[in-house]
Amino acid sequence: MKIIVVGTGFVGLTHAATTSEYGHEVYAYDIDAKRIAAYNTANAAQIERYVNEPGLAQIIAENINRYLFFTTDVASIIEGTDAIFFCTATPPNHNGSTDLSYYTNAANTIAELLAKRKDQRRVVLVNKSTVPVGTARYLEGILREHDVPNVGVASNPEFLPEGDAVEKSRKPDRVVVGADHENDFRILRRIYSQFVNHVRIRYIETTPETAESIKYVANTLLLTYISFWNGVGARLGETFPNVRMEDLKRGVTSDARISTWGSYVSNGAGGSCFGKDIQSLIYQLQSAGQPADLLQSVYEINEYQKTYLIDRAIREAGVNFNQKTVALLGLAFKQRTNDMRDSSSLKVVEALLARGVKEIRAYDPLALHEAKRFFDPEKNHLFEKITYHETAKAALEGSEMLFISTDWEEFRGLSGTIEKVVPPPYLIMDGRRMIPDYDELVERGYHYLAVGSRYLAGKSTNGKH
Ligand SMILES: NC(=O)c1ccc[n+]([C@@H]2O[C@H](COP(=O)([O-])OP(=O)(O)OC[C@H]3O[C@@H](n4cnc5c(N)ncnc54)[C@H](O)[C@@H]3O)[C@@H](O)[C@H]2O)c1
Repeated sequence: MKIIVVGTGFVGLTHAATTSEYGHEVYAYDIDAKRIAAYNTANAAQIERYVNEPGLAQIIAENINRYLFFTTDVASIIEGTDAIFFCTATPPNHNGSTDLSYYTNAANTIAELLAKRKDQRRVVLVNKSTVPVGTARYLEGILREHDVPNVGVASNPEFLPEGDAVEKSRKPDRVVVGADHENDFRILRRIYSQFVNHVRIRYIETTPETAESIKYVANTLLLTYISFWNGVGARLGETFPNVRMEDLKRGVTSDARISTWGSYVSNGAGGSCFGKDIQSLIYQLQSAGQPADLLQSVYEINEYQKTYLIDRAIREAGVNFNQKTVALLGLAFKQRTNDMRDSSSLKVVEALLARGVKEIRAYDPLALHEAKRFFDPEKNHLFEKITYHETAKAALEGSEMLFISTDWEEFRGLSGTIEKVVPPPYLIMDGRRMIPDYDELVERGYHYLAVGSRYLAGKSTNGKH
């Protein structure tokens, strides 16, 4: 099949690359010429500046100019296309509604070209971006305005988690296809033939509106799960002496009806999807006159969670952040990605700067390049207080306290480095419960404050800063 993928970020690039592995002819199109030039080098370092996903650069290197092509010129590839996947960003507007401007621009460009194409074969336009319920109908309207013949619309939401994008695209839990016509289902079955009769992968065909809803319900349920653990489970551990978080998790999730996913308590979930998708669903429900109180609370718990360790440090450990040097380990919204969109670290930096810290010594294994873009001193001169370091050890040097914001595995073994580099009394704020041997550090005089536990003052000091 000949496929065009519109938008080559995390979703589009992964979709284009993994689809090309099955011998489809895939054209990945983007308006960002620098991005396309980087992908066309097939060089891992160049590609990973934009999208850093394990295994992705290798698939691109193997398939480029055989089954996979990158272009900024969509007009030249439109003839003979069977399916066009929209993978443009759909960020939130200030009121929580979805900004469909990238999507609409792309849809208009494609509709104009399809109206003029010579070959009249059936083509299906597929929404892979997360878009409000009813967007497939909206797309139909755009196609009608342009008088596009022999065209169908479909919704095929993407569920990939960043960090595991390739693995999960090759072996998804489910593939959801919403369409109106058998012709369009048939095209998508051919594209996804490896999944259609798979024993472990559910291939679900439904209406476009149901497919659109599945994405929102799944993401908001996952965030509800996270907020439940953060807003209820963690609070118990922080309130009552002798509540052990790990045992609490085991005891609850041993119930076969309750998943272990999300039971890791943390300083909130970030990333490009959870926050914006729940905001969008709240907006969609409220605009239809429906209450969305539960979702509103889930969203607020998650937002507050991102910085509340800093509040706790002030309240429980008596910390004064003014003129302090703080090491910040982890900038990406989670491990194994360079993506910083809506990352908790953004809120942590904001909160630390607002409290007058002297310096933030930042380290992340993959996201330093992204961080410099987010914390551009041209946007806010306070960002000059951030210094960037190539190792966790270098970031710790000269710091007076530490905040761990991302669950990079390498942080689990950090207690030895902490002891070598920063002497007690020293405060460790652990937003991800990444220091398993914290009790030994506390014995040696380090103060430890983690999500899900009461504040532990170092044994040989008075616990003040
Ligand atoms: N990132 C994720 O983990 C994830 C997971 C599931 C679903 N989604 C959804 O998938 C969609 C894409 O997300 P993403 O993270 O890949 O976005 P992204 O911001 O990484 O990439 C979007 C790309 O679209 C390009 N673009 C913008 N306008 C264009 C146009 N008119 N024509 C062609 N290209 C255009 C941009 O240049 C950019 O390269 C969003 O709706 C998102 O909610 C994302």
